[in-house]
Amino acid sequence: MKFANLAHFIRKFALQLFYGKTGEKEKMEKKLVHRGKTKDVFALDNGNYLLKFKDDCTGKDGKFDPGENSVGLSIEGVGDVNLRMSKYFFEKVNDAGIKTHFVKANIDETTMEVLPAKVFGHGVEVICRYKAVGSFFRRYGEYIGEGAELPAYVEMTFKNDEKGDPLVTKDGLVALKVMTAEQYDAIKTQTQTITKIVADDLKSKGLELYDIKFEFGYAPDGSVMLIDEISSGNMRVYKNGTYIEPMELSKLFFLK
Ligand SMILES: Nc1ncnc2c1ncn2[C@@H]1O[C@H](COP(=O)(O)OP(=O)(O)OP(=O)(O)O)[C@@H](O)[C@H]1O
Ligand SMILES: [Mg+2]
Repeated sequence: MKFANLAHFIRKFALQLFYGKTGEKEKMEKKLVHRGKTKDVFALDNGNYLLKFKDDCTGKDGKFDPGENSVGLSIEGVGDVNLRMSKYFFEKVNDAGIKTHFVKANIDETTMEVLPAKVFGHGVEVICRYKAVGSFFRRYGEYIGEGAELPAYVEMTFKNDEKGDPLVTKDGLVALKVMTAEQYDAIKTQTQTITKIVADDLKSKGLELYDIKFEFGYAPDGSVMLIDEISSGNMRVYKNGTYIEPMELSKLFFLK
């Protein structure tokens, strides 16, 4: 036992000598698997991924716009609040017995450890709507009033910046072999349950969820799981009928 401890100490010391502080950093850089617009993805030795939340936001001409597909600006502290909100909701969802990719978060380092998932095709986003606003109202405004209620309406889009994230139907996803009909149904049900968890929580803080966007992936056994983040930039929230900007929402959310 004592020998094992000593051996461990010597090994640790030798590794420290070998890598040093900068060496560790280089080791980390080598494991970068994806440099995203708002997060970088690293592969960890234990097989999990590490998401590093950055202060970059999507937007245009220096104005924050969660719907935009390019990085327009950097706001100090955005990575921190997005991670905090994600941690808060992922823990709630996991506690409700729904499997997600969330393992743990490190607020000081603005990182989140997650289970590695396979994404559907080149990535699928799932939207759940309680109110007819945004692109839904732009598409179907001749059939529905702006802000009218919707029954936790779920729709999916392909992640494709050049094509403006086109909508895709269940039949389309199955015909294109991007997912099975069973996976689609599981994602739809989970999305509605998770959206209700988020909406109920916001309601208890005097806030109303109009719509929300998620990303799903799947485990090696094919089971679907919620991935990526759950933060203010991915949801439309109103207070007393007034839209709350994402940064303002993050502040309101963590007000005691
Ligand atoms: N558990 C996971 N396993 C594998 N990939 C994941 C997991 N969670 C998130 N991702 C991927 O990590 C990346 C995070 O990067 P980021 O959020 O910056 O997005 P992006 O790729 O630039 O695109 P977008 O702006 O459309 O979200 C995304 O590609 C997302 O699909
Ligand atoms: Mg993203």
